Amino acid sequence: MNVLVAGGAGFIGSHLIDALLAEGHRVVCIDNFFIGTKKNIEHLSGNPKFTFYEQNICDQDALSAVFDKENFDFVFHLAANSDIQASAKNPPIEYHNTYSTTFHLLECMRTHQVKKLFFASTSAVYGEKEGEHVAETTTPLEPISYYGAAKLGSEGLISAYSYMNRISVLIFRFPNVIGPRLTHGVIFDFVKRLKENPKELTILGDGTQSKPYMHVFDLVRGIITFKDGIQEGITLYNIGVETQTSVTRIADIICGKMGLENVKYRYTGGRGGWRGDVPVFAYNLDKIHSAGWQATWTSDETVAKTVEEVI
Ligand SMILES: NC(=O)c1ccc[n+]([C@@H]2O[C@H](COP(=O)([O-])OP(=O)(O)OC[C@H]3O[C@@H](n4cnc5c(N)ncnc54)[C@H](O)[C@@H]3O)[C@@H](O)[C@H]2O)c1
Repeated sequence: MNVLVAGGAGFIGSHLIDALLAEGHRVVCIDNFFIGTKKNIEHLSGNPKFTFYEQNICDQDALSAVFDKENFDFVFHLAANSDIQASAKNPPIEYHNTYSTTFHLLECMRTHQVKKLFFASTSAVYGEKEGEHVAETTTPLEPISYYGAAKLGSEGLISAYSYMNRISVLIFRFPNVIGPRLTHGVIFDFVKRLKENPKELTILGDGTQSKPYMHVFDLVRGIITFKDGIQEGITLYNIGVETQTSVTRIADIICGKMGLENVKYRYTGGRGGWRGDVPVFAYNLDKIHSAGWQATWTSDETVAKTVEEVI
């Protein structure tokens, strides 16, 4: 296939490109390095099956020119703002990079008759659902972050474009995804700060915030497997792990892996890390398990593996 990976210079997108190339597909990547990096894709330069365009997906004319030239069979849409803390302070980031990238890609898919789409959605569309194991059928969807809202808005746009243009869509709602090439988030941040000061670590909140962490290799395996069975209309799955890891446990795992003892944890207090951060979250994964996909590593194992990969 001829495929587009939008946001392919990012953490997850670059791993997805590696997997698509390994399957023999021709891969085009568009990224403006808003968060992604040249380093993530530099190993692909010289690969005749890989083409890179450095451009903003919201530049409709430039995007349309790429669609004119490349004749895509499948679009994998991973372009978004992934730094939720940054957009909590500056909401227009989400409008431009998360919501509008979806609109511009869908519009090009409509005008160029591209009929298959994968969309990277998020558990953030559910909002705070403490005490529940959240399934695909869980409602109401009440995102509390601008990021979650822009993803839910994107799902709405996808629903209409899919219906109006007979586009087959696969949506995965991911939890926290970690692994090699990670650029931000709690693990990246703790490792960086412990290297600077191995005696003390400031932890946002009270440390009991607890979420599922899945490995990027598990996620990419899911996308690669399910893309082949994509069906008419929209197919939506939660993907992840059913276990969770607390922030204090993450700090303990990192200290253990870095060989640090007696590190003083200083908690800033309160339930969440920042306003808009869902403090406790758990998934019901019956649907994707029934369809034949299971994670290889639990949440704690994923954290430990990632720490080894990034330290
Ligand atoms: N990493 C996670 O834990 C996680 C969880 C749930 C959902 N997701 C979603 O998965 C996708 C990939 O996440 P990631 O962690 O790899 O993030 P990332 O930031 O590393 O990747 C996103 C990429 O999109 C690019 N991008 C953003 N706006 C753009 C624009 N206007 N034009 C061109 N490129 C643009 C960025 O430069 C970046 O390379 C995102 O859609 C994200 O929302 C990630």
